[in-house]
Amino acid sequence: MTAQRRVWIIGASSGIGQALALQLAAEGAELILSARDEGALRDLAQTCGGAEALPLDLADPDAAITAAVTALSGRPLEAIIFTAALYEPGRVEEIEPAFLSELITVNLTSVFHLAKAAPRLLRRGGQLVLFGSVAGYLGLPSGQPYSATKAAVANLAESLAVELAPRVDVRLVSPGFVRTRLTDKNRFNMPAILSPEEAARAVLAGLRGKGFEIHFPRRFTFAMKLLRLLPYRISLALTARIAGRG
Ligand SMILES: NC(=O)c1ccc[n+]([C@@H]2O[C@H](COP(=O)([O-])OP(=O)(O)OC[C@H]3O[C@@H](n4cnc5c(N)ncnc54)[C@H](OP(=O)(O)O)[C@@H]3O)[C@@H](O)[C@H]2O)c1
Repeated sequence: MTAQRRVWIIGASSGIGQALALQLAAEGAELILSARDEGALRDLAQTCGGAEALPLDLADPDAAITAAVTALSGRPLEAIIFTAALYEPGRVEEIEPAFLSELITVNLTSVFHLAKAAPRLLRRGGQLVLFGSVAGYLGLPSGQPYSATKAAVANLAESLAVELAPRVDVRLVSPGFVRTRLTDKNRFNMPAILSPEEAARAVLAGLRGKGFEIHFPRRFTFAMKLLRLLPYRISLALTARIAGRG
């Protein structure tokens, strides 16, 4: 990212998105802040000095992205950072159908709508930053449907990185555990957990570099990458043991 930055953060009302907003504002970026919680966005916009709140609900991604494109057209963006996501731990057989549909819409379908609009909104070479997760590296028990959407976002980002190059610089962020309202729902020990501020610093450092995937903390993400490379016979036995079933 360059010095004169107009950046749209979708998912800015809490967690990593909010921490990114505060750090980017401190660096002088001009921000557009989106999520559902209008009050939280307005408070954050004031703290960020002149940022613009653009509330939207990704439960209807077509309407939300179309309205945002109309609102944002005219001045090209330097980056679009999409952190919005829903998560609820639990076993697949317990998932409520309406929530399943909402989660897939917010976490995945929205990203397709955004990807279609992004080339029109970004300056040439601007960044489209999508959030996967180490949870998408391998399907862990009690992590669905969230982890399936994160695997899909990573897969989509891989396609987009080639399809949209060089007009759009597509990046994939794969965090380990970060202490936010999302992980506050977990009832297990979360190794190498970071604060949202630490996560935001890692994301911005990655965006200043050239790498497609920005993953952190590396002591944890490399272990998860290794788990993915193992034969299923071993990796599934290990995940069963992690889940206390081995
Ligand atoms: N925390 C972690 O350990 C972790 C690990 C790996 C990956 N990630 C990824 O990092 C990203 C940020 O996560 P986080 O931990 O910062 O979560 P978070 O604090 O829960 O933030 C999620 C954001 O998504 C927004 N959002 C949810 N539903 C929405 C909807 N229907 N329309 C518009 N916005 C919506 C929320 O705002 P409103 O409620 O105001 O709409 C909020 O701003 C996510 O993509 C997550 O999958 C997180």
